[in-house]
Amino acid sequence: MKDKQNILREKLIASRLGGGQKRIDRQHEGGKLTARERIHVLLDPNSFEEIGALVTHRTKDFGMGNQLIYGDGVVTGYGTIEGRPVYVFAQDFTVFGGSLSETHAEKICKIMDLAAKVGAPLIGLNDSGGARIQEGVRSLGGYADIFYRNVKFSGVIPQISAIMGPCAGGAVYSPAMTDFTIMVEGSSYMFVTGPNVVKTVTNEEVTFEELGGAHTHASKSGVTHLTAGDDLECLAQIRQLVSFIPQNCEEKTPQLPFDLQEEFRDQLENIIPDSAHQPYDMKEVIQGVLDKETFMELHEEYAENIIVGFGRLAGKSVGIVANQPMSLAGVLDVNSAKKGARFVRFCDCFNVSLLVFVDVPGFLPGTDQEWNGIIVHGAKLLYAFSEATVPRVTVITRKAYGGAYDVMNSKHIGADFNFAWPSAEIAVMGAKGASEIIFKKEIKEADDPEAKLAQKEAEYAEKFANPYSAAERGFIDEVIFPRETRRKLIRAFSVLENKVDRLPRKKHGNIPL
Ligand code: HXC
Repeated sequence: MKDKQNILREKLIASRLGGGQKRIDRQHEGGKLTARERIHVLLDPNSFEEIGALVTHRTKDFGMGNQLIYGDGVVTGYGTIEGRPVYVFAQDFTVFGGSLSETHAEKICKIMDLAAKVGAPLIGLNDSGGARIQEGVRSLGGYADIFYRNVKFSGVIPQISAIMGPCAGGAVYSPAMTDFTIMVEGSSYMFVTGPNVVKTVTNEEVTFEELGGAHTHASKSGVTHLTAGDDLECLAQIRQLVSFIPQNCEEKTPQLPFDLQEEFRDQLENIIPDSAHQPYDMKEVIQGVLDKETFMELHEEYAENIIVGFGRLAGKSVGIVANQPMSLAGVLDVNSAKKGARFVRFCDCFNVSLLVFVDVPGFLPGTDQEWNGIIVHGAKLLYAFSEATVPRVTVITRKAYGGAYDVMNSKHIGADFNFAWPSAEIAVMGAKGASEIIFKKEIKEADDPEAKLAQKEAEYAEKFANPYSAAERGFIDEVIFPRETRRKLIRAFSVLENKVDRLPRKKHGNIPL
């Protein structure tokens, strides 16, 4: 019996060593943790249970029959984050460069199936040279098996991808289909075709970092939701992200213990400038309303004219969507509509209530926007809000003009509570633009056209640049003082806790993709 136990012990030790000490040292020299170290940092202490530590590949070609390494380049299993179960896979770059073989893919698929069966989030730590070149099409089949599950379980369990090394070629499509992507700065990259192929096909010279590094995907493409300075920060961000979201689509969001305090926040009174043309930082409003230091922004550097992220109100997580007057005056454009829509759909999949702050002058005009499909992309945000059945509350802080008023979680498209601050202006357009159109003749014929325009502008502003016409119609439920916003929101979400809203029976809707 002792001998048999020793055999097991030896095998487990070999498995834990992956591709060997030299390659582990190389990983560390590159500033990266190993797959096992990453899991250790990610999960609660001593909570990890490994599955498939003794799996080996089945390839005989190219001398691979003599190179059997336990685990086959991916560590898989389950554990807990703040006591809540999660399933995790971490690709081990020390074993054949973390490349994906048929058996490596089988291990990932196995834990994906288990995660979906028990209803727990799936976290993938990617660090891989791509398809195991020695295996050819079997590796491609393995990728497709993973992609298929990413889609099948989309909206069933939250799926999070960390990119902590190479992720290239078709391999990028698994993270792309998960709910959140986090990239480590300097040591990770993602692209469909690398710099060499780019040079051959388009003659462009571009570095790995420029083409597909963390900063590129955070600011230019929007592929990554978050970036981290190193592995440790990346893993901490995953833990923070998980803290906001439920285990699966049937569960409610986590409620942290919370003593109701500071319901009135006086600092909210001083944020909106006197002039409607002057910008202000909507993040001050968001932070002013939420529980202290709970705001976690996503897609921070991409489409900065809209803000999305998670936060807590009286310990309960909410998803926040907000126009940002500091960037392009908070206008809606192609990228902000896509960013907002994607986030709204995540929240709706996983029962995260939506809190929307509105200060929007409309949609961005111009050939660039029209030719790039602002019609179809703007429709995404409108569609996403309209189909969302989670509790939805809106606060209009200043402008809510034109079609953008309708789109930004208006009452008409199903929002549950719509509040406006006294500074709100809910109108077809700004007073100046409106006056120029409807009083064009009068202004032109006036002795002093400029004075006439100013007079008409003031008249229009008095009538429409306020929240009261909308409140009289019931389009706004209440006009509230900024300092009481937090209390109103806590109460609104509390009463909406058991909201039931169902869409008509259908296979699925047809969001304009
Ligand atoms: C098998 C691989 C491998 C792969 C790396 N290795 N990639 N083994 N299949 N795809 C092995 C190396 O042989 C080496 O083994 C070890 O991993 C580390 O690799 P290095 O090259 O020494 O590391 P580094 O210098 O850091 O370079 C990393 C790399 C490079 C940039 C990822 O290895 C590379 O270019 N790999 C090939 C990438 C690729 O073309 N993949 C296929 C893409 S097609 P030893 O024994 O020396 O430690 C694809 C299709 C997916 O992925 C389609 C899905 C639909």
